[in-house]
Amino acid sequence: MRQLQLMAHGEPSDVIELNTVSEPALGQEDVLITMEAAPLNPSDFLFVSGNYGVRPTFPSSVGAEGVGRVAKIGSKVDVSLRNKRVLIIPNYEQGTWADQVVVPVRNIVPMSDEADPLQLSMIGINPATAYLLLNRYVSLMPGDWIGQTAANSAAGQYIFALAKLAGVKTLNVVRRKEAAEQVRQWGGDRVVLQGDNLLKDIEEALDGKKLSLVLDSLGGAPVGELAKSLKPGGSIVVYAMLSGQFPAIPPGDLIYRGLSLHGFWLINWIRNAPRTEIEEIYQKLGDLVADGSLSSAVDHVYPLDQFKEAFKQSLKSNRSGKILFQFGGNDVAGISK
Ligand SMILES: NC(=O)c1ccc[n+]([C@@H]2O[C@H](COP(=O)([O-])OP(=O)(O)OC[C@H]3O[C@@H](n4cnc5c(N)ncnc54)[C@H](OP(=O)(O)O)[C@@H]3O)[C@@H](O)[C@H]2O)c1
Repeated sequence: MRQLQLMAHGEPSDVIELNTVSEPALGQEDVLITMEAAPLNPSDFLFVSGNYGVRPTFPSSVGAEGVGRVAKIGSKVDVSLRNKRVLIIPNYEQGTWADQVVVPVRNIVPMSDEADPLQLSMIGINPATAYLLLNRYVSLMPGDWIGQTAANSAAGQYIFALAKLAGVKTLNVVRRKEAAEQVRQWGGDRVVLQGDNLLKDIEEALDGKKLSLVLDSLGGAPVGELAKSLKPGGSIVVYAMLSGQFPAIPPGDLIYRGLSLHGFWLINWIRNAPRTEIEEIYQKLGDLVADGSLSSAVDHVYPLDQFKEAFKQSLKSNRSGKILFQFGGNDVAGISK
């Protein structure tokens, strides 16, 4: 089977090779999965550069999430899983950028046969993150407002989609006009552009209303500007730092207005939550993908052997959506979606 392997930390195209490896022996509680689709996420590139919270031993398989079908099962695995489409839980115990992957059965969750495998392959990380960000920190009611940065990212799209399903309104910050237009089309309630007028634009967009929750994946000034419109006692959750700058939240706002600042990392949830909760949330998200209420824009899909092109496209700014590997078809050579 063919597998992308990380040989050292560095630039993805320099340190990742496509190698043919022999099929590993299947443990009693393992399954062999024939992959259907796997996205490329910013966290994969942090893992490759050595800047992620999980560190590899080399050579390492790569790719955190994806879906595929169970091709073989170990002797202690429930036979009803044979041929089932399953999600691979993104806990970094296996790499998904491969034709086939051996996975402990505890790391899979059955998924619908009807849904689009590209969309299903993306629910392990961003939709789960969006769901937890919206449900863990404040008790949101229909009509409440939340604010978020980098709103046209996949995580941002899932946040405003799940918020909409719950009747919660979103104020979305993006850095480009085209991205603002996309977020409006995708259903974001209000959209404002990063820049010198951000504070004023946020206040105008909210028209006197206050935010209950601010979700930040960017860092720098915008999260601090959003925090100024939080209700007293509101929460800010930081889950990434795309700009490379520390989140600039004035301590006075935290102290005098009693705001709470939290950090979120999905892997902590996967490591610590009860298995039933993990399965329940992924199945709920899978159902929302299957009925069409949850999706993320796809920019391009690539076959595995075009991995260098996929990396290049994925690392570009101004994409119109996610980059994914699609396996097993002859029809995916760099397809624009
Ligand atoms: N903590 C966790 O557990 C967790 C879970 C899921 C995701 N994340 C993190 O959340 C972030 C978003 O992930 P994703 O998969 O949704 O990303 P994505 O779909 O690949 O989108 C990347 C986004 O980042 C924006 N961006 C990149 N650099 C920027 C900068 N300097 N200033 C402003 N915007 C910038 C891009 O804007 P343009 O379109 O304008 O280029 C785009 O909106 C990543 O950092 C990821 O690692 C964390």
